Amino acid sequence: MDLATLTRQYDFTGRTIVITGATGILGGEMSCALIGCGANVALLDRNLEPGRALLERMGPDGASRAFLVAADVLDRQSLEQACEAIRGRFGRIDMLLNGAGGNKPDATAGPDRSFFDLPTEALRWVFDLNILGTILPSQVFGRVMAEQREGVILNVSSMNAFRPLTRIAAYSAAKAGVNNFTQWLAVHMAQQYSPRIRVNAIAPGFFLTRQNEFLLVDKQTGGMTPRGQSILAHTPMGRFGSPEDLMGAVLWLLSPASAFVTGTVVPIDGGFAAFSGV
Ligand SMILES: NC(=O)c1ccc[n+]([C@@H]2O[C@H](COP(=O)([O-])OP(=O)(O)OC[C@H]3O[C@@H](n4cnc5c(N)ncnc54)[C@H](OP(=O)(O)O)[C@@H]3O)[C@@H](O)[C@H]2O)c1
Repeated sequence: MDLATLTRQYDFTGRTIVITGATGILGGEMSCALIGCGANVALLDRNLEPGRALLERMGPDGASRAFLVAADVLDRQSLEQACEAIRGRFGRIDMLLNGAGGNKPDATAGPDRSFFDLPTEALRWVFDLNILGTILPSQVFGRVMAEQREGVILNVSSMNAFRPLTRIAAYSAAKAGVNNFTQWLAVHMAQQYSPRIRVNAIAPGFFLTRQNEFLLVDKQTGGMTPRGQSILAHTPMGRFGSPEDLMGAVLWLLSPASAFVTGTVVPIDGGFAAFSGV
């Protein structure tokens, strides 16, 4: 391997990737990184307004290779329509990054809401978004890959999937489901359709974003909550991740550099999982 060959593997020119939750904090960063590496990127989200700022951030050349598409990852019909529109715009779909996901306060146990009182609706919302919201896009866009006998699916799990964190039972269980589904789909695609279709996941550790801010930052003081402090104390690198910390693993798993890697979940956690606390 020489430098030119290595670099070519990370050139996504002419490749089309669909990113769900593309206008979110992590999804937005991944979208910009892929645009920067030459890809055509379909930015799929249910609310397109934040996507306009993303297009500006990409600059005219980047924005010319980006396509904002409205779709709900829990609505099969809207995904089918998005798929048609993306194929119309770019001609093909090579990759899917399942970025939509999250947790919400109502599904989080705490001093004012015990586990026993978590509303069914809130629990279902978290399960649906993280599990079905990964499976349904994989059905719709995975079918395209099965037909062309080639493709890559990258899911977004969480460190909660390996060892659950306190308070967030539904989110932890849902992300454990994402790990399991990643392995299942990797085997299914390779055996039933083509070994050239790979399915992997990343498991981000702790990144300060909308979905967890209410747990990590004290609204009144703006300082860390005890939970936030405990996370930092258990992270050998001593900091939260920043979205760009994910990009090396994301680009590797989407690129031919990981051609023999499928069914894995890669932690990006500053060493959190490795540390026993002592
Ligand atoms: N932040 C972390 O520390 C962390 C750690 C581990 C894993 N993750 C995972 O990383 C992924 C991205 O998280 P993030 O922190 O960047 O969250 P985020 O900023 O809230 O981004 C999630 C995006 O998904 C969109 N979305 C929600 N429901 C949708 C639906 N039904 N259909 C289409 N799009 C939908 C959201 O749109 P709206 O704004 O309209 O809701 C938002 O744009 C998630 O899977 C999350 O679980 C995050």
